[in-house]
Amino acid sequence: MEISRFGKKIAETSGIGQLMEDLGVAYSKGRNILMLGGGNPAHIPKVQEYFRISMEKLLHNSDDFERTIGNYDPPGGNQEFIKAISALLSSELGWNIGPENIALTNGSQTAFFILFNIFAGEFEGRASKRILFPLTPEYIGYCDVGLKDDLFVANKPQIAHIDDRIFKYHVDFDKINITNDIGAICVSRPTNPTGNVLTDAEVEKLSKLAQENKIPLIIDNAYGMPFPNIVFTEAKTVWNENTIFCMSLSKFGLPALRTGIVIANEEVITMVSRMNAVMSLAPGGMGAAIMMDLIRTGEIINLSRNVITPYYQQKAEGTLEQVYKELDGIDFHVHKPEGAFFLWLWFPNLPITTSELYERLKARGVLIVPGHYFFPGLKESWQHKNECIRVNYSQDEETVTAGIKIIADEVKRAYDAD
Ligand SMILES: Cc1ncc(COP(=O)(O)O)c(C=O)c1O
Repeated sequence: MEISRFGKKIAETSGIGQLMEDLGVAYSKGRNILMLGGGNPAHIPKVQEYFRISMEKLLHNSDDFERTIGNYDPPGGNQEFIKAISALLSSELGWNIGPENIALTNGSQTAFFILFNIFAGEFEGRASKRILFPLTPEYIGYCDVGLKDDLFVANKPQIAHIDDRIFKYHVDFDKINITNDIGAICVSRPTNPTGNVLTDAEVEKLSKLAQENKIPLIIDNAYGMPFPNIVFTEAKTVWNENTIFCMSLSKFGLPALRTGIVIANEEVITMVSRMNAVMSLAPGGMGAAIMMDLIRTGEIINLSRNVITPYYQQKAEGTLEQVYKELDGIDFHVHKPEGAFFLWLWFPNLPITTSELYERLKARGVLIVPGHYFFPGLKESWQHKNECIRVNYSQDEETVTAGIKIIADEVKRAYDAD
């Protein structure tokens, strides 16, 4: 059977595909695997209680359940839910948007596939365009979504050492060059894998650059404000007609319901809706149905601020404390955890690559993600790519504690063997 270039890329080289499979196989082999590798959110009992109540209401209220599962939504998604989201974001963030500025997708991952291939790739009568990631490390899920090869271009960050241990990546604006082959700029904020929250000044500067060059700024807000609000630092969330915000219900606790929310100007929303129709007729409606009341009442904001933020912040602080203790005596740095639910650990001059470290940890039952996956579009070789790992600290304390212990032991062995 002959397959296209795109098919080949997905079948043979898809980084995220291979990694997800590898993590999945390792995980399914034994219940004792310590899963610090994937992107699952925590199961927070107080939040899950709301989901359960909401599901029970859906089952009991006249024919709500039958309508939810028995009809296709429009290609842009459930319009009642979209109205509620629009009202919430307008009142909470002061955004000047209406329902015409919102479309749902089957998870925000699908939104990136749509947006990147709309704004980059082949163009009529002119050279191809690419998506610019102004700061890598960046989200692994962007890596392979291009229908055309070589869809991304990326920059290395500036590294600011806050103290002996903590550092923060910044956008290196001196190196950013918006040539006319750039079709859009994209950042995740908070960033997966580092927990970085780009400063307001950085976002403002990127937004200005995007406007001056008449290209959109795509902000991946999967962990951001106002929900799920896994943000531990002060930050503003500003929208304008040139900004495309991508949100999600996944990190709030519903990854299996595949609900992404795109906020953009009407032209973009129309394209996203039409792409939904082409790819899947309509986005699934279960996420919208379960979250409708929480959005309408604004309770999602309280839950985010009062339950989700402190939950992850405590976990971040506790894990960091343990990392300091276990890795004492080793040369390591940690990215300042400002949001999301990952620690990004950097082992300068580690005698082995972090891919090798991943294999050694997997053999000992601990799953993490090696750093080199998180540099989509960055072609130059850079030792740093092989010196970092991402650790998901959202799982239960026992798992995280045991996992960190083994990571520390294995890193020490690697340095000692040198
Ligand atoms: C930064 C970021 N963006 C987008 C996604 C995709 O999320 P979903 O498709 O579940 O909405 C993830 C998932 O891990 C993520 O970490």
